[in-house]
Parts: sequence; structure tokens; C-alpha cells
Amino acid sequence: MIIVANFKAHKNNSEVISWIEKFNQLQNNFSGNSQLEIVLCPSYVSLAGAFQKINSLTWKIKISLGAQNISAFEEGPYTGEVTVKMIKDYVNYVIVGHSERRRYFSETNDSISQKVMLLKKEKITPILCVSQINEVNPLGDFEGLLAFEPVFAIGSGTPDSIAHINDFVKKAKELLKNARVLYGGSVAPENVSKFSNNKNLYGLFVGSASLDPVVFANIVSHASKN
Ligand code: PGA
Repeated sequence: MIIVANFKAHKNNSEVISWIEKFNQLQNNFSGNSQLEIVLCPSYVSLAGAFQKINSLTWKIKISLGAQNISAFEEGPYTGEVTVKMIKDYVNYVIVGHSERRRYFSETNDSISQKVMLLKKEKITPILCVSQINEVNPLGDFEGLLAFEPVFAIGSGTPDSIAHINDFVKKAKELLKNARVLYGGSVAPENVSKFSNNKNLYGLFVGSASLDPVVFANIVSHASKN
């Protein structure tokens, strides 16, 4: 199982480092599940520092880094862009097409497909966020992770129902045979078990509840028991 911690536009470099130190100290609460992988997604500016810190500590579980976005351009005169090449030494994953990017930064399926293609070239796994099944249609031979995140469930405190999630997974697998689906939207310590128990899901995508390492470790601890 994969559990993504998406910090969004929170935390500077030293706050990310403190989070990692604290989270590292909490791992004794996790039961030994070798399949568990945490993907920490801080802002671009913390990736190098987080990479160094993670590698300087001993871990009982696998912990990787992901970026929250990437440029649709490979490189060139695109002021302000961060390209795959700039971060590929640090990350194994990149979040693509989060609904906040589609909504506030006008991301389209075209630019999202372009990003997925650039990531494939560098062998970095995209975590493609979709809020409905019709966003899965144009994906072709997509091989990354699919994060199902209904917009109403993000940051609302009201996660989606298991029936609706299972329905999405079923339809996603009809379109992409090997779809590996994560669920995101108000995942919290008090509701995580019903998602981590659901064998249709490959993992979880956590926003707000990842910001405090104690709360996030609590989520991981519950999930590690499944
Ligand atoms: P949330 O965010 O956990 O705060 O609901 C999830 C997300 O953005 O995917």
C-alpha cells in the first residue's frame, strides 16, 4: 500500500525537515508491513533538503519523495517553470492534474498528458489525480497511479462512500486494465481503516491530515495493520 502525503502550499524547508525528524521518531507505532510505502510531497524548494534528511535516517518502512506538479515543457525559455530534469534526482513520483491545479491554474487534459509523457521518459511514476471517470478516458496506455479524488470530498471533512469508490475502481479497470487506484479526500485517522481495508484500493492520498506528523503517523499506523 502507498500513502501519499501532499503538503500543498504549506511548510518551508526547515518545517519539512522537522516533520521528517518527528515522523521518523514515530515509526515504532507501525506494524511491520514491508509493502507500505510513504510518498512525501513537499514543495519543490524542500525536495533537496528532504532528500538529504530522509537518507540520513533509518527507516522501518519505505519512504520516497514526490513533487506536487511539473512543467509540461521539457526545458527552455519558460520563466518560472520547474522541469522533470531539475527534480529527477530526488523524486520517484510526481502528482499530476490535482483538481486544485485544474481549478486555479487552468490545467487541461492536454497539458496533463504532456506531463505524463515527460515523466514516462524519465521513468518517474505519475500520480494522476482525477475526480470523475471521464477524466480517465483519454489516458491510453497510462501506467502510473490513479488518485481518485472527488472534489466535494477534498478538505471538506466528508470522505466519499466506499460504494462510490468501488464503482469508480470498477470503471477505471475497464478502461485501464492494470489501474492502481488511490483514494483521496478527507482521509483522517478516524476513517482510514475503512479505506485501507478495501482491497480494491492500492493506496491513499492525504492532504490536510498529513501536515501534522503525529496525525499522519496515526493514519499510517492504522493502515499498517491491514
Ligand atoms: P484532504 O486533501 O486530505 O485535505 O481532503 C486531499 C487532496 O487534496 O487530495
